[in-house]
Amino acid sequence: MPVDMRVRLGQVDLPNPVLAAAGCAGAGRELAQFTDISRIGAVVSKSIMTEPWTGNPAPRLAETPSGLLNSVGLQGPGIDAFLQRDLPWLLSRGTRVVVSIAGQTVREYGVLASRLADASGVSAVEINLSCPNAEDAGRPFALDPGTAGTVVAAVRGSLRYDIPVFAKLSPDVTDIVAVAGACVASGADGLSLINVLLGMAIDPGTMRPALAGAYGGLSGPAIRPVAVRCVWQVREAFPDVPIIGTGGVHTGRDALELLLAGASMIGVGTALIHDPSACSRVLRELEEDLAAIGVDRVADIIGRAHGGNPQSPPWARPADLTGKM
Ligand SMILES: Cc1cc2nc3c(=O)[nH]c(=O)nc-3n(C[C@H](O)[C@H](O)[C@H](O)COP(=O)(O)O)c2cc1C
Repeated sequence: MPVDMRVRLGQVDLPNPVLAAAGCAGAGRELAQFTDISRIGAVVSKSIMTEPWTGNPAPRLAETPSGLLNSVGLQGPGIDAFLQRDLPWLLSRGTRVVVSIAGQTVREYGVLASRLADASGVSAVEINLSCPNAEDAGRPFALDPGTAGTVVAAVRGSLRYDIPVFAKLSPDVTDIVAVAGACVASGADGLSLINVLLGMAIDPGTMRPALAGAYGGLSGPAIRPVAVRCVWQVREAFPDVPIIGTGGVHTGRDALELLLAGASMIGVGTALIHDPSACSRVLRELEEDLAAIGVDRVADIIGRAHGGNPQSPPWARPADLTGKM
């Protein structure tokens, strides 16, 4: 018997939970040369900004043990070109599309959301909160619960209610549950965990930072335990809020780990850079792993690692513990 891989994303049934994560699949065209993008759960677009931008100066990629540092920046064509060219192309392929948006002010996020309000075929909007806030000395929105919540409210208020909004959080905080809570209270329908961790590498040959911008975002297998921990903590605190779990997924087993921690969808990012068919492969492996352990429906194993133990005292939950420390 094939495993039922369907999961629900807002109003849309996805055929399976495996998504191409933001920034690692462009707007789908590059991936489509290697894999059938209509068969994966959805493609999350590279984060779209109001205007076109060429991104950061090179070098902007550096390999690290089990990871990748990138300072690509939000290179892209801007919302007009995305709506005219990329979105129709993706939809013409039968692909479900999650549009990731990014801004430098709260107003920009609102503008992007209102542009998307009239677009048809958008399955969900993912708010990239890791962008520098121009009104707060470049401090990323995701670092402060209040600021993150303000962005979510601006987006939610400008979008149609049938388009779910996912807030994508940064792991570079001491209390991710507090940021998640502010986003949910401000109208986020779901959460996306995690974006890259801030990192740095120095080239001993040149004795200079390996990236032109000095810092970069760390991704890949090295960050998977951080992603598992964040998904676990947020699921404990908000068991009814859907989570897209992303971070270091390279195999079906990795995806299974995040599902067990509480994610109901899985983003595959860095793996696509060396294996453009990684989403299809991860999906196949996940299905095989589930069949091997006798699971009929992927929905049945979401959050299973929590065990639903009624004995577990409320104070033992990570959210409460964080509050007491
Ligand atoms: C080259 C590159 C570009 C990225 N661009 C974006 C982006 O535009 N928006 C975003 O929300 N996340 C972006 N990310 C973060 C990924 O979507 C993902 O959250 C992160 O890399 C962790 O997953 P992974 O380990 O599977 O790559 C990017 C990551 C990489 C490696």
